[in-house]
Amino acid sequence: MNLDVLLKRAGVNSLYPTQRVIIEQGLLEKGSFVLAAPTASGKTLAAEMIMNEELENGGKVLYLAPLRSLAYEKYEEFSHIFDEWKVRISIGDYDSSEEPLREYDLVIMTYEKFDSVQRHRSSWLSEISLLVLDEVHYVGDPHRGPTLEMAVSKFLYNNKYARRVALSATITNLDEISKWLDAKPIRVDWRPVPLRAGMFFDGTLIYRDGTTEPLSGRGVLPLVERSLRSGGQVIVFYNRRADAVSWAEKLAKKLNLKGRELEDLVDVLKLSAYSSSKLIDRLASVIRRGVAFHHAGLPFELRKVIESSFKRGDLRIITATPTLAAGVNLPARTVIISSYMRYDRTVGRIVPISVMEFWQMAGRAGRPRYDRYGEAFIIVNSERDVNMVFKRYLSSEPEPISSSLYDISQLRNHVLALISSQGYMGKDDLYKIFQKTLLFVQGGRRILERSLPYVLSSLEEEGFLIEDRAGYRATSIGKRVSELYVDPSSAYIMIQSVDELERRFNRSEALDLPVLQLIAMLPDMPRVSMLRGRRSILEEAAEEIEMLIPLEEAPISSLPELLQVTKAALSLNMWISGVSEGEIEEKLGVEPGDLRGLSETATWLCYAYSEIVRLLGKHKISDWLRKISMRMRYGVPEELLPLVSLKGIGRIRAKILYDRGYRTVKDIALSTSEDLEKLPGIGKKLSKELIDQARSVYHASTSN
Ligand SMILES: Nc1ncnc2c1ncn2[C@@H]1O[C@H](COP(=O)(O)OP(=O)(O)OP(=O)(O)O)[C@@H](O)[C@H]1O
Ligand SMILES: [Mg+2]
Repeated sequence: MNLDVLLKRAGVNSLYPTQRVIIEQGLLEKGSFVLAAPTASGKTLAAEMIMNEELENGGKVLYLAPLRSLAYEKYEEFSHIFDEWKVRISIGDYDSSEEPLREYDLVIMTYEKFDSVQRHRSSWLSEISLLVLDEVHYVGDPHRGPTLEMAVSKFLYNNKYARRVALSATITNLDEISKWLDAKPIRVDWRPVPLRAGMFFDGTLIYRDGTTEPLSGRGVLPLVERSLRSGGQVIVFYNRRADAVSWAEKLAKKLNLKGRELEDLVDVLKLSAYSSSKLIDRLASVIRRGVAFHHAGLPFELRKVIESSFKRGDLRIITATPTLAAGVNLPARTVIISSYMRYDRTVGRIVPISVMEFWQMAGRAGRPRYDRYGEAFIIVNSERDVNMVFKRYLSSEPEPISSSLYDISQLRNHVLALISSQGYMGKDDLYKIFQKTLLFVQGGRRILERSLPYVLSSLEEEGFLIEDRAGYRATSIGKRVSELYVDPSSAYIMIQSVDELERRFNRSEALDLPVLQLIAMLPDMPRVSMLRGRRSILEEAAEEIEMLIPLEEAPISSLPELLQVTKAALSLNMWISGVSEGEIEEKLGVEPGDLRGLSETATWLCYAYSEIVRLLGKHKISDWLRKISMRMRYGVPEELLPLVSLKGIGRIRAKILYDRGYRTVKDIALSTSEDLEKLPGIGKKLSKELIDQARSVYHASTSN
C-alpha cells in the first residue's frame, strides 16, 4: 500500500517529526537505523512505514517486543493495518522450530521466542529482510538483556543484508547502540503531547523547570483527586504487588467512583476460571468502585480485560507494578510514581530505581488520542530527599545502556546455545560472532579474552561440549539441553540427580515431592515471595522432603531460599493433585498468576528433565516424568489425564466428568450428548463436540 493508505489505516492525518525524519534521511527504502525518540512520539508508525515498504517488496518482517502484553498489543494493531498480509504472533512453547512461520509475511515475537527459534536453526530465518527491535533498551536488562543481545548478534552475523530498525525512548548512548547494530543513529526530541514531570512533597508540586504549585496534603491521594477533578485518568505505580492491591482498596474506599459498565466487568471476573481466588474477589470489589490493580500475580487474560476497560474510560484508576510501563498505550493523564526505592534481590537491600525506569513509567502519561497533556509525579516523603530526587530523576538523563553478557552464567548459556545451533563451530567463528555483540562494542577484545576461555572449559567439564584443535562441538546432551532451552546449570543438576532418582524409582518410593523440589530449585525457576504463608509449614516440609541431590550441591544458598523452594514445590504438588487455586492461595499464600508462572515453567522443566533422562537411557523414568509434565500443564491428578486430552476439558470439567463416572475417552464416546449436557458447566454445544471428539479418538484407537 502507499503511504497515504498506511496513514489512513493507522488513523493518522499527517506525519509526526519522528516519522518525517525517516523519509528525510532517505531511510524509507533502504538502510538501518536506531530511533531514539520520546515516549508516545509515534515510533511504532515510523517502523510501520519501513515494514510496509519491505512487505511491498516481497520481504519478510520480524518484529520483536520485550513483553507478551506488548507483543499482543502490536499484533492487534498490525493485523488491522497489514490486512492483506499474513500476520502471526508467536510467543508460546519454546521447544519447536516454528517452521510453519515460513508461511507468514510479518511475525511478532518476544525476544525469548526469537532466541529459541534461532537455537532450532529454523531455515526461514534467512528469509527475514527486516528486523524490528522495539524497546531496545531492554538489552541492558540483567535478566532479559543477554538473550536479546545474543539472538540479535547471531542474527547480524548470519543475515548480513537484513535491515535493522531499533526503537527506544530511553537511549543515552545512542552511538554505542547504533554501532552495535551497524545502523544510523537518529534522535528526535519532540513529544506530541507535552509531558510535565515533577515531584510532590508536603503540600507542594515542584516541576522540572523549577516552578511550584501548592496542593494540600501529602502522598498519593491528593494527586489522584486533583487528576480526577480535571477529568483525567490515573496510573499509580507501586514497587510491590501487595502495595498495589492495598492501595487500590484504599483509593476505592476513599473515592467510591461509580463507573459505567463496571458491573459487567465484575461479571467477567466472577465467571473466569479463577473465580475461586481471594485475589480476584478483592479485584472485583475495587472494580465496582472504579479502581483496579494490575500486576503479574493476575492472569494475563484478566490484565488485558483491565487494560481495555481503562481504555474505554470505565475504570478511572489503575494501581500497577512497573510491568505495565513498557510501551503500552493507556489513557493516563497522570502517572504517579509512589516510591523511588525498591528491594533488589541481587544485592539484598532497597535501592533507588533507575532513571530509565522512571522515564518509562512517566512516559505512560499523556498519550496522543487520549489526552492533550500528561503529567508524571514522583512522591517524595522526606525533605532530605527533595534535592536528590530532583537531581537524579528530574534533571538527568537515563543511564547508558550496557551489555549484561558480563554475567558468566548468562554467557555459559548462550555460548552453549551458539555452538550447538551450529553443530560444530570453529574457534575463529566463535570469536567473530562475539565480535558482533554489544559486549564487544563496549568491552573490546580484552573482555572476550578474559571470559570466553573459562566459559568454554566449564561447559566441557560438565559434558556439554567437546573441544578439538580447531573448534567446538556440542555433545548430544549439550545439544538437547540447548534446544530444550534450559540453563546448562539446571541440566547439570538434573543429570547429577539421575542415579538417586533411579534408585528410588526402582523401589517405588513416592517421588512427586522430591522431584518437584528439584525442579523448584533450578536457576530457571522463578522464586516465590516469602511475604505470605506460614513459615512453620515450610520448615517442617523442608525437613521432611528427602532431596535428590546433596544440599551442598544444590543451588540454594540460605535457609530462606530453601523455604522459598519448598513453598514452590508444595504449591506445585497441590496443583498437580487437582487442588483449587483458591485453596492453594489460602494455604500457601501463592497468588493465581504466580502459580500459573510456576506451573508453566515447571511443565517445561519436567519435560526437559524427562528428555534428558531419556537420553541417558532411562526410558521408564522418562515416561513417568513426562506424565508429571502433562499433569503440571493441566493441574490434574494422573487419573484425569485421559479426560484433559480432549479439547474443551480443563481441570474443572475433568473433575466433574470423573466424579460422574466418565473416566476415559471411551466412557464419553459411548455416552450421548443428552447425558453430558446435564452435567454442570458442560452445555449443549460442548457436549456435542465432546462426543464427536471422543468418538473419533476412540474409533481411531479401536480400528488400529
Ligand atoms: N502521525 C500521527 N498522528 C496522530 N497520532 C499518531 C501519529 N503517530 C502516532 N500516533 C499515535 O501516538 C500514540 C503513541 O504512539 P507509539 O505507541 O508509537 O509511541 P512510542 O513512540 O512507541 O512510545 P513508547 O516509547 O512509549 O513505546 C499512538 O496512539 C499512535 O496511534
Ligand atoms: Mg513504542
